Amino acid sequence: MKQEQVKKHFAKQADEYEKLMVKLVPHYLEQHQIIYNLLPEVDKSYRVLDLGCGNGILSELVFQKLPNSFVVGFDLTENMLNAFKKKLSDHSGKFELKLGDFRTDSIGKGYDIIMAGLTLHHLTWEEREKMYQSLYTALNTGGLFLARDIIIDEDQTVMKKHYSYWKKFMKSQGEDPEFWYSKHIEKDHPMTLTDHFAWLRKAGFSKVACQWRLYNFAITTAEK
Ligand SMILES: C[S@@+](CC[C@H](N)C(=O)[O-])C[C@H]1O[C@@H](n2cnc3c(N)ncnc32)[C@H](O)[C@@H]1O
Repeated sequence: MKQEQVKKHFAKQADEYEKLMVKLVPHYLEQHQIIYNLLPEVDKSYRVLDLGCGNGILSELVFQKLPNSFVVGFDLTENMLNAFKKKLSDHSGKFELKLGDFRTDSIGKGYDIIMAGLTLHHLTWEEREKMYQSLYTALNTGGLFLARDIIIDEDQTVMKKHYSYWKKFMKSQGEDPEFWYSKHIEKDHPMTLTDHFAWLRKAGFSKVACQWRLYNFAITTAEK
């Protein structure tokens, strides 16, 4: 899918984003509890990048646990950034929104935490190396990189099973599994955890870890 299509797809979803995600991503809300727990325990004035921030669902967790933080929300879609502004209006002055394409535009630097929620699967294989390098450069030493994403298993049989579990889940939520599956196949480039970890290590990250996984979804962390 071309970037223009990705933009249109998310522009349409902005208002109903969270409700839809609950029906499309197994344990979407439970994932937030895990991500919350993975954020640092000590509240300091962290500088945080929420890459592909959407409506600010992950930034909201940052403000809940680390209220002295400053968040940069970066997204390709103006409607999503508007939804972010509305959702996190109580925290205005504590965030800055940047409209841009993380593949070609600067994501800034000097971050203590970078979060990428359901975002990296938009990158093609060829775009990965540059992106992981930018993430590493953008983080301060000791900084945390946290990603939750759609993934695939190395084993084709397991991968197919995961897709079948995922489709069953979407159906149980009243969604059309074939519609969403074909959109995924058309526009996304999910990776195996092995490849994700290899790109992270190549960029220089250490303490690369899978913190949670269910079927074709995972939450991972790495440190600089
Ligand atoms: C599925 S949403 C994820 C929202 C949120 N981070 C979460 O965890 O639920 C993916 C977001 O990434 C944004 N996005 C996709 N490709 C992008 C790119 N190349 N540059 C910046 N943002 C991008 C989309 O506009 C969308 O808001």
